[in-house]
Amino acid sequence: MRAAVQLLLASLAAGTAVPRGRKSHAIDKDDFVYVDGLRLYDSKGLHYLTGINYWACMNLAASSSSGGNHSRLITELDQMAGKGINHLRIMASSEGAPTPQPFRMNPPLLEAPGHYNEPVFKGLDICLAEMSKRGMRATMTLGNEWQWSGGFAQFVSWATNDTQIPYPSSWNLTAPPQRNTPGTGWGNYTTEGIDAVPYDKFTHFANRIYSNDQAEKWYKNHIKTVMSRRNTVNGRLYTEDPTIMTWQLANEPQASDPRDATNHFGLDPNPNDLLFPWVDRISSFIRSLAPKQLISVGLESKQGEYYFKKVHNFSTVDYATTHCWVQNWGIYNMYDSSEANLKAAQDFAKNFMRNTSRWAVDIGKPVFLEEFGMARDNWENKNKEYPYLSSASTSHKDAYFKTIIGTVMNDFRNGGAYIGTSPWAYGGIYRPETQHVNEFGMVWAGDPPHESPGWYDLYDIDQAMDIVSKQQRIIAKWIKEHGKNSTGY
Ligand SMILES: *[C@@H]1O[C@H](CO)[C@@H](O)[C@H](O)[C@H]1NC(C)=O
Ligand SMILES: *[C@@H]1O[C@H](CO)[C@@H](O)[C@H](O)[C@H]1NC(C)=O
Ligand SMILES: *[C@@H]1O[C@H](CO)[C@@H](O)[C@H](O)[C@H]1NC(C)=O
Ligand SMILES: *[C@@H]1O[C@H](CO)[C@@H](O)[C@H](O)[C@H]1NC(C)=O
Ligand SMILES: *[C@@H]1O[C@H](CO)[C@@H](O)[C@H](O)[C@H]1NC(C)=O
Ligand SMILES: *[C@@H]1O[C@H](CO)[C@@H](O)[C@H](O)[C@H]1NC(C)=O
Ligand SMILES: *[C@@H]1O[C@H](CO)[C@@H](O)[C@H](O)[C@H]1NC(C)=O
Repeated sequence: MRAAVQLLLASLAAGTAVPRGRKSHAIDKDDFVYVDGLRLYDSKGLHYLTGINYWACMNLAASSSSGGNHSRLITELDQMAGKGINHLRIMASSEGAPTPQPFRMNPPLLEAPGHYNEPVFKGLDICLAEMSKRGMRATMTLGNEWQWSGGFAQFVSWATNDTQIPYPSSWNLTAPPQRNTPGTGWGNYTTEGIDAVPYDKFTHFANRIYSNDQAEKWYKNHIKTVMSRRNTVNGRLYTEDPTIMTWQLANEPQASDPRDATNHFGLDPNPNDLLFPWVDRISSFIRSLAPKQLISVGLESKQGEYYFKKVHNFSTVDYATTHCWVQNWGIYNMYDSSEANLKAAQDFAKNFMRNTSRWAVDIGKPVFLEEFGMARDNWENKNKEYPYLSSASTSHKDAYFKTIIGTVMNDFRNGGAYIGTSPWAYGGIYRPETQHVNEFGMVWAGDPPHESPGWYDLYDIDQAMDIVSKQQRIIAKWIKEHGKNSTGY
């Protein structure tokens, strides 16, 4: 009892108070996750990632005058911890512009090159400190191919005299149809004008970051600024904080090859793709600043074996990543209730996991499934006011989650390269039916601002969250029984 009180006092003094009524799972000062063979380890031994995407953490954790909501943050972190989640993939970047830009996280962390929004940075501190108390580690995503956080396109725009960004069709919450109460939706995708170029055209604009020296310089300055940060809540230097497991170059960097079809699967090898030297340069730069933490690229790995191996084989990339998007890649149709539709999605996912596990074994590195999702049974919403109502059931989603998570668990237990899963994305207490934009135009759904809110959201009471949770319990038990022998081969 006394020891516990002293520990509590000590942790209070260190600014790492244990949440009341909970056993401490806090991450110790030197407990960095490391890679050995095809596996991750921490001080407790073999480490499996029961993860989830929670990209808006820094904004939710910001002060209310900066669009945050502390009580929602705490509620949702507690919910996720209660489900056994030990890893969150969060944004550690978002870029603004000299003029307000649509379709993106607002307010941004980086308002202009060198100009930070301190309340949002403080939000990132709070997010990490609260995660640490709950034993959750982070993937810190440092850039973005897509428009929803500013990302590459914003750096390119800054570096080219504020060139207008050619946006692809994106969700506009204020477009018709509108509900009676202003700010509650529904909106629609933009279909015309400067805001609706083909996706490939946008991607090619964003990919100019691979060859624009000024854009790269500002992007690297951002990386250095985040990594050099000292957490204002718990005093830890970011590069000395084991809560940060991984620095990730960017969300879904794309091949620079002009033949790339952004939403398609598979791409012929192009040894001259500018993506490769870019991964080499940026990952080496990160390694020079963070020798104790891991590095991942954030690749979906949809381009096939050649790209998978080439991107992930650099010595400065610690493990591979995969994102599996069956609807976006045209394999699954959310309005088709048929068993065949579901089965096509499940078969695709199993093949994709099998392929990528084998490719990862070939290059001797672990692989993390850090994005996947499926819509609700939205055929039930087809004639309703909004296609993504939360009232729809989730029969396909649940079956798909069981399959894809089950495939990763089997691979892990059988000595394959997979080390965990991280579905997209936690919406927690958010619901489209009760959404209300804040003063910055945000609703903070699990779906980012360029997409229809509620499409891939995981809500607190969803069955899928129990599937995620069950995974954690099964794997924990397995590690206890067999973990000592599983060093990866
Ligand atoms: C903040 O979150 C709480 C739930 O924790 C919710 O009831 C409240 O409406 C939210 N406030 C705003 C301004 O969104
Ligand atoms: C930059 O943009 C401004 C305003 O659009 C224009 O007047 C100026 O000529 C541009 N400069 C360059 C170097 O393109
Ligand atoms: C969103 O829709 C509103 C209403 O139609 C329109 O005025 C606005 O320009 C649109 N915004 C964008 C970025 O397309
Ligand atoms: C990966 O890199 C190693 C050396 O670092 C090399 O021997 C091997 O051939 C490479 N594999 C692929 C698939 O590029
Ligand atoms: C798996 O790999 C094979 C050949 O390497 C390829 O033909 C197939 O399209 C891949 N499937 C998936 C889903 O990755
Ligand atoms: C959005 O627009 C499409 C195409 O115009 C339409 O079919 C759909 O019903 C609209 N969405 C909503 C939520 O009304
Ligand atoms: C580990 O492997 C050895 C030899 O194969 C076996 O005797 C032992 O029971 C295994 N231990 C565990 C914890 O599985």
